[in-house]
Amino acid sequence: MNIWPMPQIKIGAGCINDIPTALKELNAKKVMVVTGKGTVRVGNYDKVKTVLDASGITVVHSDDVQPDPSIQLVDSIAEKARKSGVQAVIGLGGGSALDSAKVAAAMVTNEGSIRDYIGVGLLPKPGLPLIAVPTTAGTGSEVTHLSILSDLENQTKKGFGSSFVIPKYAFLDPELTTGLPQKSTAATGLDAFCHCVEAYTSANATEYTDALAVKAIKLISGNIRAAYNNGEDLFARENMLLGSLLAGMAFANAGVTAVHAFAYPLGGMFHVPHGMANSLMLPVIIKFNASSKKERFAHVAELMSGKKGADWQDCISEVEKLCEDVNLPRNLKAIDIPESAIKPMSISVMDQTRLLVNNPREVTQKDAFDLYTEAWSR
Ligand SMILES: NC(=O)c1ccc[n+]([C@@H]2O[C@H](COP(=O)([O-])OP(=O)(O)OC[C@H]3O[C@@H](n4cnc5c(N)ncnc54)[C@H](O)[C@@H]3O)[C@@H](O)[C@H]2O)c1
Ligand SMILES: [Fe+2]
Repeated sequence: MNIWPMPQIKIGAGCINDIPTALKELNAKKVMVVTGKGTVRVGNYDKVKTVLDASGITVVHSDDVQPDPSIQLVDSIAEKARKSGVQAVIGLGGGSALDSAKVAAAMVTNEGSIRDYIGVGLLPKPGLPLIAVPTTAGTGSEVTHLSILSDLENQTKKGFGSSFVIPKYAFLDPELTTGLPQKSTAATGLDAFCHCVEAYTSANATEYTDALAVKAIKLISGNIRAAYNNGEDLFARENMLLGSLLAGMAFANAGVTAVHAFAYPLGGMFHVPHGMANSLMLPVIIKFNASSKKERFAHVAELMSGKKGADWQDCISEVEKLCEDVNLPRNLKAIDIPESAIKPMSISVMDQTRLLVNNPREVTQKDAFDLYTEAWSR
């Protein structure tokens, strides 16, 4: 069993006030804060900047992050960090900002482009220390050794993995997530939910990842509706952050499966938000994988409903109910994915070998076509 290292983690309202203590431990007096423009607009950048200013820390700001960050974008942020002479990097925002910050910090001390190191364990040197402050719940990127970058040349997303991108600290402050709109609360929450369900049903699940995944399934399915219906509900927001963290720890070590593999062409070709893409594929993949993991999917249904005696089909209906309650679309047709995209997507998904290898059942080219066809009009 392999267990990746983890950052030191603080969770709770107001915990961002401890960021300067962490920077002191890292001996960093000048930092780059990596965000998107949305994080500035909702006031989260100012909240963190105020804390840093009060401790006399010099801040260099990159607000260049776009959703589904590209290899080129992250190379340019790394170049800015190199030139500015910062001693640490803070990633502040959703998974897109965290993934960009993780790779940019690592690339400060490594030569060339991140393109040269795509894969797992290929980065030669550690980079600048990184602090992750997630504002979605979410990707779990604050705790993983992974960053997902868009490859504009191939219109797909590529995974990059290295122990050198694991943050040194993570601050999970629910007050930074209260402004997350309903649509993003639903999509990012379903991303986290898929992480734990996929980890729990992965071919590489272990006792360690099972413990994390089971708790994460309960926390996320038990709090997502409350967070969706009242964004200011700090209790639900904190439980969502905790759930997505545990889900991140689970999938970092067990891997995600076909749900994520099939979601990537939807993100790469049509910019479907990552969590929504996962939610659209989850029911069809549960059905496809059920023959190999019947008991596990039945257990997921029990964890979601709190009722004993479920079977694997109940898992599909519980997931459908959850998605309906947070207004996620039912099929690909509903979000205007053309039927003609099924073929190219089913070819592209076969390149996601890094994820398909974790799936409990082998996926063939024909299966891929059939699964997208089902997801298109189910
Ligand atoms: N590294 C990993 O382990 C991992 C795991 C899963 C997904 N990902 C990647 O993460 C990315 C998706 O991240 P995401 O789902 O968090 O979305 P995101 O980071 O792309 O953010 C989505 C939108 O929400 C806005 N936003 C974020 N926090 C907000 C807040 N508190 N209030 C208001 N608006 C806010 C952002 O500005 C953005 O416009 C994808 O690229 C995906 O592939 C990475
Ligand atoms: Fe994900």
